[in-house]
Amino acid sequence: MIDAKYLDVKNLSVHFKGRFRIFRGHGEGVWALKSVSFSVGRGETLSVVGESGSGKTTLLRSLLGLVTSTDGNVELWGRAIGTMSADELLAARRRCGYIIQDPYSSLPPTLTVLGAVLEPWNVVHGRGGHGVAKAKALLSELKLPEELWGARVRYSLSGGQRQRVAVARALILAPELLLCDEPTAMQDVSTRGEVLDVLNRRVRSGMSMVLVTHDLLLARHAASRAIVLYKGEIVESGDTSELLERPTHSYTRALLAALPKL
Ligand SMILES: Nc1ncnc2c1ncn2[C@@H]1O[C@H](COP(=O)(O)OP(=O)(O)O)[C@@H](O)[C@H]1O
Ligand SMILES: [Mg+2]
Repeated sequence: MIDAKYLDVKNLSVHFKGRFRIFRGHGEGVWALKSVSFSVGRGETLSVVGESGSGKTTLLRSLLGLVTSTDGNVELWGRAIGTMSADELLAARRRCGYIIQDPYSSLPPTLTVLGAVLEPWNVVHGRGGHGVAKAKALLSELKLPEELWGARVRYSLSGGQRQRVAVARALILAPELLLCDEPTAMQDVSTRGEVLDVLNRRVRSGMSMVLVTHDLLLARHAASRAIVLYKGEIVESGDTSELLERPTHSYTRALLAALPKL
């Protein structure tokens, strides 16, 4: 079969009514996304770069139908999510992994590290099978020390470790499309590369990835293509290394100028 687009986004716009409408009186709301279009094929990574508030999280959420779009279209594997039945949407979501931005709220606090990674597997495949072996292999690959595997997620882990548990949890079901929201924001410099290597390895074996980050260097390390979001609009897109060498939009130049000099 010819490589169909895993993900195709056309003119996606999302408008939120103001969060604090009562206080604002005539809340005019905010356009979190304005006519955003891009596509991602099999085994491809797209980085989404932008400052805080530029619409990155809203974009990921609308790809899964968790945010209702105001206009435009999202297709997963050739089907518009707006035309899917509830069951079809669930089935499409099951083919996707989603690492949400905040590893504190996304992980079940009472579970152990191993239990948290196993949970999605048990929900889909039932207990048993290769689940435990897969979970352990992922935790090793992500370099989470074995003495932490039995620890409670809430009390015993640093932010970076928790984030790596979230990555293992998303990968255990071998998603075909992985959406990651700043998956390495809490890692220090040395483990940031390790986490990205684990993700890149999956991409080389066919997984597609949308990587949200405000770190242009991470984007370059991950992806051949990037889009730059600014106030909900794509202001620049193209090959990541070219964006870094020849940023055309003043905002991309500002992002670059803000990088620490190595
Ligand atoms: N549920 C919501 N209700 C109202 N406004 C929202 C909601 N979610 C996000 N926004 C607004 O949409 C804009 C984009 O937010 P977000 O997608 O979280 O940006 P980013 O992830 O790039 O920081 C911001 O102005 C934010 O305040
Ligand atoms: Mg965000």
